[in-house]
Amino acid sequence: MLPPTNNRVPPNAAVVGLQWGDEGKGKIVDLLTARYDCIVRYNGGANAGHTVQVGTERYALHLIPSGILSKGKINIVGNGVVVDPEKLLDEVDGLRKRGVAVGDNLRISDRAHVVMPYHKEQDAALEELLEQKSGKVGAGQIGTTRRGIGPAYSDKVRRSTALRMGDLLNHSLLLRKLETICGLRMAELEALGANVTPLVPQELADRFAAAGERLRPHITDTVYLLHDELRAGRHVLFEGANACLLDIDHGTFPYVTSSNCSTLGIPAGSGVPGRMIGKVYGIMKAYSTRVGGGPFITELLDPTGDLIRKRGREYGTTTGRPRRCGWLDLVAVKYSVMVCGADAIACTLLDVLSGFDELKICVGYRRADGTITDRFVPDAERMEGFTPIYETLPGWQRELTDCTDRDDLPREAQSYLAFVERFVGIPVELVSVGPERTQTFESTARFASMS
Ligand code: IMP
Repeated sequence: MLPPTNNRVPPNAAVVGLQWGDEGKGKIVDLLTARYDCIVRYNGGANAGHTVQVGTERYALHLIPSGILSKGKINIVGNGVVVDPEKLLDEVDGLRKRGVAVGDNLRISDRAHVVMPYHKEQDAALEELLEQKSGKVGAGQIGTTRRGIGPAYSDKVRRSTALRMGDLLNHSLLLRKLETICGLRMAELEALGANVTPLVPQELADRFAAAGERLRPHITDTVYLLHDELRAGRHVLFEGANACLLDIDHGTFPYVTSSNCSTLGIPAGSGVPGRMIGKVYGIMKAYSTRVGGGPFITELLDPTGDLIRKRGREYGTTTGRPRRCGWLDLVAVKYSVMVCGADAIACTLLDVLSGFDELKICVGYRRADGTITDRFVPDAERMEGFTPIYETLPGWQRELTDCTDRDDLPREAQSYLAFVERFVGIPVELVSVGPERTQTFESTARFASMS
């Protein structure tokens, strides 16, 4: 476990994924939590899945910040999150059943938008329509989690059909809004070819007002709450969901999610100005994975990819889907570091790479016309035909799960991290070699200075 205080850590910090998600952010947030007072989610919804292992207990959190597992922390679901109230209540109940206290330590923005059942239907219907149009199973779609994320954010932007968490606290207002929304939504679902059961405003209003009542003690103006905490000198950790390469503006569009999941989403999604964030930790898996469609230049569709999937247990926390696996793409990571303003890297799942004779790292791309670039292109169409340019590094055979310090790592693993530092230009400060809290260590000196 990391020590609770560290003078080198500036007051407020952010943790963000530098790849396509599932980098192990939950685990790093859980570790850093000891140093912070408030943990804030600012984007995404139940599409995210953060797994935290505490002793033999494994927790899969989707909407609630991982700080809930530590005593005395305030956990905030900010205005930039889209909340499925029933999923949130399931998560609260599940935590309570396992003895985790959920009370004043969970605060939900009254301005966070609501994910309704019809958003999930729309999400699935659009994906199915796109698949039919492409004429190929699994092709044509985004490959969403079908958690209604895109449709809920669409309603937020459309405004007149949106519901916010605060609306759940006023039954008559909720009913009035649903009376407008339901007719329109039925027509939209029918146009998508969905098999729709009629949406009844009264039923939905009763059901979601009931969920609102249960959540009432947690729903508040989190922007004032956060600024009050900041003025009182308390320290805040922002927990990014999804990851930079899935950012709606800066990811591999259109194969992205619908929020700003880079650090650029923090100011809008929490109400805290960006200049108040003192340190950004970029979380990077030692290799690459991706779920759903979209460009993945270093993808391995061979036994090496299968071995990484097996060793890394690469199956989605939210959907159970097998993840696509491949070598580390440092062009992509360096781009994310630039966009997110990352100061340090936390390298996770390094232990998964034990046992390979050699390891490849992508340092450039060859375009379809044969020209070379060292720049990431956040556009799926324009990335078509790109192939990776690799550096090959020696692998290591020894299992790393017992390493508690950088000097315990085999020389080849140290060189691997030194290569990352030199290429990306920021230090690898945290290294994770297993799922447990105790299997992460901090490195105060740079790996690049060791080799
Ligand atoms: P959506 O967020 O459900 O709309 O899905 C859009 C894309 O983002 C799909 O390719 C998903 O697989 C991917 N995605 C969304 N959230 C996560 C995540 O937390 N980890 C990994 N992939 C994600």
